[in-house]
Amino acid sequence: MSIRILVLGGGGREHAIVKGLARSPQRPEIFCAPGNPGIATEATCLPDLDPVDPVAVTARARELEIDLVAVGPEAPLVAGVVDALDEAGIAAFGPGGAAAQLEGSKAYAKEAMAEAGVPTAGYGVVTSRDFALAKVAETGCPVVLKADGLAAGKGVLICLSEAEAHEAIEVFFTEQRFGETTVVVEEFLEGEELSLLAICDGVRAIPLAPAQDYKRIGEGDTGPNTGGMGSYSPVQTVSSDQLAELSATVHQPIVDLMARRGHPFHGVLYAGLMMTKDGPKVLEYNTRFGDPETQAVLPRLQSDLVDLFLASSFSDGLNEKAVSFSDEFAVTVVLASAGYPASASKGDVITGLERAAESAEVVHAGTREQNGQIVTAGGRVLNLTGLGPDAATARDRAYDAADAVNFDGKQMRRDIAERAVRRERDEQ
Ligand code: AMP
Ligand code: GLY
Repeated sequence: MSIRILVLGGGGREHAIVKGLARSPQRPEIFCAPGNPGIATEATCLPDLDPVDPVAVTARARELEIDLVAVGPEAPLVAGVVDALDEAGIAAFGPGGAAAQLEGSKAYAKEAMAEAGVPTAGYGVVTSRDFALAKVAETGCPVVLKADGLAAGKGVLICLSEAEAHEAIEVFFTEQRFGETTVVVEEFLEGEELSLLAICDGVRAIPLAPAQDYKRIGEGDTGPNTGGMGSYSPVQTVSSDQLAELSATVHQPIVDLMARRGHPFHGVLYAGLMMTKDGPKVLEYNTRFGDPETQAVLPRLQSDLVDLFLASSFSDGLNEKAVSFSDEFAVTVVLASAGYPASASKGDVITGLERAAESAEVVHAGTREQNGQIVTAGGRVLNLTGLGPDAATARDRAYDAADAVNFDGKQMRRDIAERAVRRERDEQ
């Protein structure tokens, strides 16, 4: 009988994970809760199962005789879904709730980095308006203010001037937009950003291929932050030697620390790095795959994803495992709905999906089936990943697919991976 895997989540990252698992020679039987119409073509969707409910997830996993639960988003991790599965003796891909605090609390992450000796921006944690004002004055501008808890990428305010910082302080402490008043005040860092993910088994961290994502809605990195408007992998500036060195600096010390604390880190540890002129510094940790980095990274994976997920779920399971990637280039373009990121238009009919699939991998992020048609159902709607021998080809394929798809109000950035293509030309 083939291995039975339950994936939790229903966005583009989870569709990419389902596709990655489906490529395994082990031919797994895949379930996904809640899933989406794209995922439904490759797995059995469980739309009525709440992925954030540890009791419900454990009960359904038992009932379906699931061998491994793979958690996509952060909310189930922080809610303790993996702890409940552990207790029930069901293997899970992802950290327990205590280790997920690396993403769930920015103050916890900064304190962990300080203890583990990981390079990061100077900071202070403040819990009142007066302390915040004092810390901002001490840090100087630009300065970055971050809500402590999960805020879907929206809790970070970059303030160029003292006036902006004072406005941000009102947002946190008077308006209480993020519902809490623990705030990290951080030094502003300059440089190129890099997403470096590692798969971990409680003892070791093995880096995955580096990627870059595009967080702002507008071309040239303008406008408000989004969940991510595109990505590409690999990043030519990071050699394989450098990758190992970076991972030894930003992943392994945290895995070691969490083991010492009795909260071994299993799953994916995602380090968001700023490559500053003084070296790499960690902006944040996520305790899961990145979205949309996963869509560009996993199609290049040559190792068996089922095998890696299983190995990461038990202590030292990755010992002697290698993680290999193809030399191909991958570029992911995100199509977003009208109004995103402030709002998300829903119910617009999507056409051209079959034509898009001729040149790229089509991943559903926010779609729904309605009267036999696929319609928009969220901010980020579709992800198109082009693959090719070089960045230029991969990029052309992604944009061919992106142009083939249509729906009212379609938004996309035209400059995804432009940087990678420019580097490629410069190298020639
Ligand atoms: P975070 O959720 O902490 O990764 O922050 C979201 C985004 O805000 C990052 O990807 C950066 O683009 C930006 N950012 C966060 N912290 C800093 C910082 N200290 N200096 C400059 N930009 C930052
Ligand atoms: N792409 C950023 C994230 O997944 O948090």
